[in-house]
Amino acid sequence: MNKELRKAVIAGNWKMNKTPDETKALIEAIKPLVAKADCDVVVCVPYIDLFAALEATKGSNIKVGAENCHWAEKGAFTGEVSAEMLKAIGVPYVIIGHSERRTYFGDTDETVAKRTRAAIDAGLTVILCVGEYLEQRQLGITMEVVRTQVKIALKDIKKEELDNIIIAYEPVWAIGTGLTATAEQANEVNKAIRELICELYGQDAADKMVVQYGGSMNAGNAAELLAQPDVDGGLIGGASLKAPDFAAIVEAASK
Ligand code: PGA
Repeated sequence: MNKELRKAVIAGNWKMNKTPDETKALIEAIKPLVAKADCDVVVCVPYIDLFAALEATKGSNIKVGAENCHWAEKGAFTGEVSAEMLKAIGVPYVIIGHSERRTYFGDTDETVAKRTRAAIDAGLTVILCVGEYLEQRQLGITMEVVRTQVKIALKDIKKEELDNIIIAYEPVWAIGTGLTATAEQANEVNKAIRELICELYGQDAADKMVVQYGGSMNAGNAAELLAQPDVDGGLIGGASLKAPDFAAIVEAASK
């Protein structure tokens, strides 16, 4: 409806892949292919690869993100990294609430809300992930699940802070499985998320909110998904590890 008010964001989620040397090589391969992109391009990489990614993307249109952050500024949290630390090294983006964090590492709607608050306080842009499990879709409760996730994650976020929030709808059954939501399914949930933002913050906020789709998005299906009125970009796992595939998705988003 108001897609012209939003700039698409294509973000790679590399998950637990690539060493620093491999990071440099993949970014060097991606760089020339996306140099003319008419959308925002982000690569979210493991903590250990952040310095290499920041270095390799210098002077390019590719921005760097982390894949998680802790909610405390500092303290006794062995093995964790704070939003403040990411900010301190110049990382602008962070993924929060990815389903793999929720499923394997105990992230809950409450901790997702705390991490989101901390990231916004640190001045980062958050890619907030939400999405239903297959059983929840089969039970017909997708909208309730996703609305609850978004509502709790944003409960401490003020309207003026929404400019630094991107929401990624990622049906868990579509992540890494090769099963993609149909363009209609993706748009239906993205639209519902936008309607919720309207309820919570007003129409202007809803019109500006970037809502991505993620889950087996690839070079072949990206154009159809990205053509949907409420799909404003993608969060890409597997296909973001192959430079030509990632670049093809960026190109589809630039149209
Ligand atoms: P996928 O992962 O593209 O490999 O399905 C998406 C994600 O987990 O963000």
